[in-house]
Formats: sequence, C-alpha cells, structure tokens
Amino acid sequence: MRDTPPSLESAPRTADVNEGEVMRAEGTALVTGASRGIGQGVALELARRGFDVVATMRNPDDGADLATTLGDAAGSLRVERLDVTDAQAFDMPSPLRVVVNNAGVEKAHPPFEATPMRLWREMYETNVFGLIDVTARAIPALRAAGGGVVCNVTSSSILAPVPFYGPYRSSKAAVSAIGESLRAELAPFGIRVLEIMPGPIDTDMLEGSDRAPEAIDFDGYREMAERYYEGRKAVEGQVTSTEDAANAIADAILDDDAPLRVGCDPLAVGMIQGWRASSDEDFMKAMLPSWTG
Ligand SMILES: NC(=O)c1ccc[n+]([C@@H]2O[C@H](COP(=O)([O-])OP(=O)(O)OC[C@H]3O[C@@H](n4cnc5c(N)ncnc54)[C@H](OP(=O)(O)O)[C@@H]3O)[C@@H](O)[C@H]2O)c1
Repeated sequence: MRDTPPSLESAPRTADVNEGEVMRAEGTALVTGASRGIGQGVALELARRGFDVVATMRNPDDGADLATTLGDAAGSLRVERLDVTDAQAFDMPSPLRVVVNNAGVEKAHPPFEATPMRLWREMYETNVFGLIDVTARAIPALRAAGGGVVCNVTSSSILAPVPFYGPYRSSKAAVSAIGESLRAELAPFGIRVLEIMPGPIDTDMLEGSDRAPEAIDFDGYREMAERYYEGRKAVEGQVTSTEDAANAIADAILDDDAPLRVGCDPLAVGMIQGWRASSDEDFMKAMLPSWTG
C-alpha cells in the first residue's frame, strides 16, 4: 500500500469538482454509524458546513436530539435507520454528494491461533461487507448527482504491525485496498475516494480498547500482550477530540486536492508521514522492538 499513482491524480473530474478548488458543501451527505463517536461528530460538522446530512444509525432513538444540538447551521440534519449489515431496505437519498463509511466495530484480541472464525466473520461483516454493500448502493446515486466523495474511515493501526489485532487491522486494510481500486474506478465520474486513517480519537471504541489484549491469558503470549499494553498507555496524552477529528475529516472531504490517505489527528498525521518517508521494512523495524523486546 503506497500513495495514489500520479496518473490517478490527473483523472477527469466533473465541473463542480474543479482542480485546486474546494468542493461546494451542498446536496446530501450520508454518514454511517452516526449514533456516537466520530460518526456523530462528522454528521454534525458536515451539516454546519452546509450539507443536508442523513445521519444513519442502527437505532434512530440514539439520534433523537442530534438535530437540536446542531443549532444554527448552514445545512440540515435528519436521522434514518441503517444497519450496514442489512442495507437492502435503505433508500439512498438524493442528490447524494458525500458518503462517509464510518460505522465500525472492534472486538476481542486473542492470539491469532486462538481467534475463533466467528470473531473474524463478525468483524468483517460490519467493517468490510457492510461498507461494500452501502458503497455499492451509493455509487449510482453519487453518479446521478454528477460526482462527489466516498470517504472511508479505516485506521492508522494498519501502518503498524500491532500484535493480536489481525482481525481488526485486516478488515481496515481490506477497505484500504478497496478504496485504491475505487479511487481509479470512480474518478471518471467525478467521485473522489478518500481514506481517513484515525489515530486515537476520544470515543467509546478508544475507551473500550484501553485494556490488555485477551492474548494476555494465553501461555506464550502473555509477555508480548503486557508489553503491548504498556506501549498503548503512551497514547493517553495524544488523544484527539471527536470535534477536532470531525473538523479535519470535513476539511478533507471538501478539499479536492486531498490525497487518498489522510490523518484526522496529530498522531495519525505523524504516522502517515513516517510511513511515507521510509520503506515498509524500515517502518516496521522501527515499531517492532516495543512489542517484541
Ligand atoms: N476512536 C478511535 O480511536 C479510532 C481509531 C481508528 C479508527 N477508528 C474507526 O473510526 C470509526 C468510528 O469509530 P468510533 O471510535 O467513533 O467508534 P464508536 O464510538 O464505537 O462508534 C462506532 C459507531 O459505529 C456504529 N456501528 C457499529 N456497527 C454498526 C452497524 N452494523 N451498522 C451501523 N452502524 C454500526 C455504532 O453504532 P451503535 O451505537 O448502534 O453501536 C457507532 O455509531 C470506526 O470505523 C473505527 O474503526 C476509530
């Protein structure tokens, strides 16, 4: 995985997605997993910028107060039900300009050899297949609107060889590869594909991951799991608020010149820069000692 080949940067764009200009914040923006966390922040921020936001979530009751917290905004926000693992019943809004594939899950982290297939499947069902289904349904609506943005939220953890995170990281890496192909495939329609790779953002998911990986209970893996958890504590002072992350994500969505992969917080921005500036091997070597001792 490396940055977009230069040929894609010069692919055709539609009239309202001009080189060197920012996209106009108008039309509808759909956000998945907008009940809380990053998704909620992005839904609110895109509405503030002028989009008519469809904030989708599994349980619409979770978003009952969302529109009222918006206050005076250039755009609007309405809540609709969408479980990304069951998207058939969902009607894509129109004119659709932006899709933010944010819904995601993180589960247990046992050693690879002890990870049940059920856990892999659950992770992929939401993080990969759900995203695929929503995106495939959104593309015709984006094309009909004359172009727009598909914004996939992956994770900066893809860049580091984090032990015990195979299911989560690989689900995000799959989305990363899908995004590369789509960046090429959709460019002729003026649809720009963007990948946000968050670092630590202050959400329930981050709080839930503040624990030793389950691998700590397995002989042979305890020491590495302990060391990993010690290292993870170092991010505590580097957590970014959902508001700041949402702001950075909205900026990237509106920036026609944004690269394929973007961080939405200082830690991720630094990681992406370090990864771009070195070879995969050197980057991995620099990260590994903290876990392998
Ligand atoms: N926070 C971080 O530090 C961080 C770092 C890297 C990447 N990310 C990625 O950023 C995205 C947002 O994470 P977050 O930190 O905001 O997590 P979060 O607070 O746990 O929120 C996850 C959101 O996804 C929704 N969701 C889960 N399964 C769904 C499904 N089947 N259909 C629709 N929505 C579903 C949740 O809905 P419910 O309320 O119904 O559960 C919730 O709205 C995820 O893709 C995550 O992997 C986060």
